[in-house]
Amino acid sequence: MISSFGRPRRAAIHLLGCLLLIGAPLAADTAVESRPSTAKSGHLYLVSVGVGDPDNITVRAQKTLAEADIVFGMEGTRERFADLLQGKETYEAGHGLFRPMHRQSKPESREGTPAALNQGDSGDVRRQRREQERPRLEAQARQVIREAVAAGKTVAVLDNGDPTIYAPHTGYLTEFADLNPTVIPGLSSFNAANAALGRAITQGEHSRSVILTRTPGDPLDAARLDNLETLAKSRSTLVFFTMRSKFSEFVDQLKAHYPGETPIAIVAHAGYRQDEQVITATLDTILERVGGEKLPFEHLIYVGDFLK
Ligand SMILES: C[S@@+](CC[C@H](N)C(=O)[O-])C[C@H]1O[C@@H](n2cnc3c(N)ncnc32)[C@H](O)[C@@H]1O
Repeated sequence: MISSFGRPRRAAIHLLGCLLLIGAPLAADTAVESRPSTAKSGHLYLVSVGVGDPDNITVRAQKTLAEADIVFGMEGTRERFADLLQGKETYEAGHGLFRPMHRQSKPESREGTPAALNQGDSGDVRRQRREQERPRLEAQARQVIREAVAAGKTVAVLDNGDPTIYAPHTGYLTEFADLNPTVIPGLSSFNAANAALGRAITQGEHSRSVILTRTPGDPLDAARLDNLETLAKSRSTLVFFTMRSKFSEFVDQLKAHYPGETPIAIVAHAGYRQDEQVITATLDTILERVGGEKLPFEHLIYVGDFLK
């Protein structure tokens, strides 16, 4: 039996060809009509400035910032790039704005920040302050961004690292989805830490895969489908974003799923030429290597046989 599927398809292709021919001059006319006017059209960007030293910012991010009329960023980030922001209208970007509370970490689940790294604030005080400021900052961002884009201005929201990985400003992408925001990519702490390790992280003795995850710290984490037990079973290399978790407790959790001789590495301050630090050991020896030192907020943990 001869299938009849071929014929209508050929007919459709023929019809499409005719339409394209007929449509060609029309398209040209339309192009003339819709030629962009000289007026600047407004746009919203979520821009990575990278991690570590300021020269880790990309050329594309620099160009985007140069063209931005208005910039949102957290205080430290605005200070780090003060020279690029001169003459621009700047605003506080907040932390975790426009994200439903149930999707954020439970405040009581996180350890307090080492005082030296947090200018004396406890983690709880900082979180409370953030929550108090949230309604004002959200209202301000809504008003400023919508008015600016409608007036043909360019707005940049700055973020460190990859703005899509455990990042504080992804709420802007959903809140302003109707404005079609553009994400300008940049160097994640993951990339900078890989470079610091100086090894092929996808070429372990038995593993060829890498999973980015975060240290368990939330009581709900154990119930998640991608809990530590499940991830550890894959024996893929695991890279943990640490977010102020307690290191010694975390090593105990790892030891419940891995043999003591499993290699582990800590990369602190990745991307800073002067301060970057790599510590490699095994699960059995890492606590001794760290020696009770409080780890900085900026550290990633790697577990995997590529470290052997
Ligand atoms: C809120 S997440 C932000 C991650 C960011 N989006 C990125 O792509 O690097 C913060 C966590 O990223 C990691 N981190 C950020 N900067 C780092 C750095 N310079 N060196 C090592 N880890 C870093 C730490 O685990 C920290 O707790």
